[in-house]
Amino acid sequence: MSQELRAVEWTGTGLALIDQTLLPQRTETLPVHDVDTLVDAIQRLVVRGAPAIGAAGGYGVALALLQGEREGWTEAEVRAAVARVREARPTAVNLMVCVDRVMTRFAEGLDAVLAEAAAIQREDVEANRAMGVHGAEWLLKKVGADRPLRILTHCNTGALATAGWGTALGVIRELHSRGSVEVVYADETRPLLQGSRLTAWELVQEGIPHYVQADGAAAGTILRGEIDAAIVGADRIAANGDTANKVGTVGVALACADAGIPFLVAAPTTTVDLATATGAGIHIELRAETEVLEWAGHRTAPTESRGHNPAFDVTPGRLITGLVTERGVLEISAGELPGDRLR
Ligand code: MRU
Repeated sequence: MSQELRAVEWTGTGLALIDQTLLPQRTETLPVHDVDTLVDAIQRLVVRGAPAIGAAGGYGVALALLQGEREGWTEAEVRAAVARVREARPTAVNLMVCVDRVMTRFAEGLDAVLAEAAAIQREDVEANRAMGVHGAEWLLKKVGADRPLRILTHCNTGALATAGWGTALGVIRELHSRGSVEVVYADETRPLLQGSRLTAWELVQEGIPHYVQADGAAAGTILRGEIDAAIVGADRIAANGDTANKVGTVGVALACADAGIPFLVAAPTTTVDLATATGAGIHIELRAETEVLEWAGHRTAPTESRGHNPAFDVTPGRLITGLVTERGVLEISAGELPGDRLR
């Protein structure tokens, strides 16, 4: 990619979000100047991916201040608007962490708020770059193959899902830059197709060879020995290493464990929630039934059917060979727990 993609950008007066619901058919930017539009954008997945919604949420504090000034809000009203941004989606802890971090500068006013939000964005890109190197080196050593790797990934964890570069996709990009990627298997990621629409699009931009496969194909591909390792991102990681990520992730982890190949989670420490002891404490977002009962706006399931649509699942830490953060790799299944190592 000649110029690094920016899913979230502060324009000076508001946010410009790449509308990820339209990709890959259309590349359009949604201008955001008020809190309602931001909350709606986060909930409709115009902006998505844990670090990207964290970055957008950070700037949401600035939006609330500016809107409050325009519309004559009291401080309590501005704070209530910020709370709505913070709660727009429940699973990714980055959203809450970033909003809370920016709120520590609230009393200092708009410039301080904007500086903190920008620092979050900058640090996320730096963390992703560091993760790329740590993850690539660990993986090359672990797999020990003297040939390019065949890697499976689930959902989208690239520049679109972060402030830039990517987490799991950042590791893949780093491996690719070293000539160490034979092919990426991108799970399509039902029901909203972040894999086939967004990951495949980013892989095309990067010139990385890939297949898009149905989520249901993943376990078979792994068990047939067609994959060397799987790398995914995370929305929240509990102190014991249990990890919430896009629904379908736990099946990939189970298949990797059975096949005896590495299952890697790549996420910045802003995704680690040491206040949550285990995965049982992670709030899993349940999304609209229509997302699984319809296809492209047309009903496909019988009208009598109900839909079950959890957006995420929890992979137990015992199935996670390595957790890559900007600080290095923790071998969770071997007992290196975030609660002990990242406090
Ligand atoms: O519902 P989404 O598209 O926001 O889900 C995103 C994921 O599950 C990602 O894997 C996760 O947020 C990590 S993004 C670097």
